[in-house]
Amino acid sequence: MSAAPFIIVAIDGGAASGKSSTARALSSRFRLLHVDTGSFYRAVTAELLRRGARAGDVATVLPVLPALQFGTQVHGGTAQMTIAGRPVDAAELRSAEVNAAVSHFAAIPEVRAALLAYQRGQAEVARAQGFRGLAMEGRDIGSVIFPDADLRFFLHADPAERARRRAQEGQTDAVAERDRLDSQRKTAPLACPPGAVAIDSTNLTLEQVVERMAAAIAARISA
Ligand code: DC
Repeated sequence: MSAAPFIIVAIDGGAASGKSSTARALSSRFRLLHVDTGSFYRAVTAELLRRGARAGDVATVLPVLPALQFGTQVHGGTAQMTIAGRPVDAAELRSAEVNAAVSHFAAIPEVRAALLAYQRGQAEVARAQGFRGLAMEGRDIGSVIFPDADLRFFLHADPAERARRRAQEGQTDAVAERDRLDSQRKTAPLACPPGAVAIDSTNLTLEQVVERMAAAIAARISA
């Protein structure tokens, strides 16, 4: 009997489009490592702010980048970035300061370059820990990080619905403004890559979105 294939599932979409909930559900169903690359950009943002870098001032960012030592710890099936061996506090990752700055830092090509190999390396983390593959969510996973992923999804949702979801989570987050910045940047902008499966989740429940994606994954596995 041949070993089960290692599968890579890319899930891209705007802020609060439902990426994390669906990626988590699919990860536990198919025994995939859940990788939230937004949390990586958030961890880097928190660290840059701590070291005095300012959003909108690239000259304060570039000298700090080479000193950042990234690692990964896996907790509950999710990859957590460490910087200099320490995970960044979860509340800090979702703070109003990080929400306001993250898209600005993420638009800097050197910041994206510093995270490229680290993100691709999550496949090795998953293999080493016995996962069957990866469910990686972000903005450029199906376009830049894993353009040859086995499955590529792109989630949409109406901006008003997304703002409602964030408010329900008790977060201060300018969803539309982050999407504007993420879509307009020159390097790896937020966009549905050609060939990806686009799903509009505005009027769907989480379960309905997950079932659609799971059916596509199951078909791919059995093909
Ligand atoms: O998924 P999130 O909302 O937590 O992501 C936070 C920010 O990180 C998002 O506004 C843009 C950036 N990001 C990115 O540029 N590329 C990714 N692959 C993931 C996130």
